[in-house]
Amino acid sequence: MNVIDAIKSRISTRAFLDTPVSKKQLRDILDIARWAPSGGNLQPWRVHVVMGKGRDRLVETVKKSITENPMGEAPEIAVYPPKLQDPWRARRFEVGETMYQLLDIPREDKPARINHLLRNYEFFGAPVGLFFSINRQFDKGQWAHLGMFMQSIALAAAELGLATCMQEAWVPRAKTVSTFLGLGDDEQLYCGMALGYADKSADVNRLRSSRIPVDEFTTFITD
Ligand SMILES: Cc1cc2nc3c(=O)[nH]c(=O)nc-3n(C[C@H](O)[C@H](O)[C@H](O)COP(=O)(O)O)c2cc1C
Repeated sequence: MNVIDAIKSRISTRAFLDTPVSKKQLRDILDIARWAPSGGNLQPWRVHVVMGKGRDRLVETVKKSITENPMGEAPEIAVYPPKLQDPWRARRFEVGETMYQLLDIPREDKPARINHLLRNYEFFGAPVGLFFSINRQFDKGQWAHLGMFMQSIALAAAELGLATCMQEAWVPRAKTVSTFLGLGDDEQLYCGMALGYADKSADVNRLRSSRIPVDEFTTFITD
């Protein structure tokens, strides 16, 4: 697979097979992704991998926290601005509605929509979960570099025949996950990522999100 194919074929996979992924495969992916750039070569990322019994323990721990505290913990990160405006609001709406159409869950069926959202906390069935954290001294620049690293993981995984889904859904459970992972007070959890083999028979994995054309987000200054 060349880079262009990897970029264009990577999608957010939301149903995985239980086919195991080895620690060696994970190490290989991380060994590729560590070549992502970062300003000053700070390499500000930290990755925490849960797999095997570790993954199952994490899923159980979070399940318990959801039962005890269904509304979630006070989030440190606003995943979206409180009043998301157009055109961004419309884009979010479109991808969400397309996904629920594929899942055949209408707008009124709130319990079914919530159940789908809760699948995030089982990594959509993926055998591996990754969590990304960053030292609290860092600001937006280093957070952007962390994002480049995450995309590098997703692309390396695609090259090796594996699928991923980045998951900010963990933000309202960050406290529970941070405690589970043993993060120090100076480390902030950002995001999770499910990783495994895609269930190609699952309808939800037929979702292909749209993109705006180049001229909508680019300014060329030529003279
Ligand atoms: C940082 C980040 C966090 C995300 N968090 C979630 C999530 O918690 N759950 C989910 O189902 N999708 C999540 N997504 C997937 C986005 O919805 C998806 O990337 C977007 O709709 C574009 O679709 P594509 O990834 O298939 O190209 C996340 C994506 C990114 C980049």
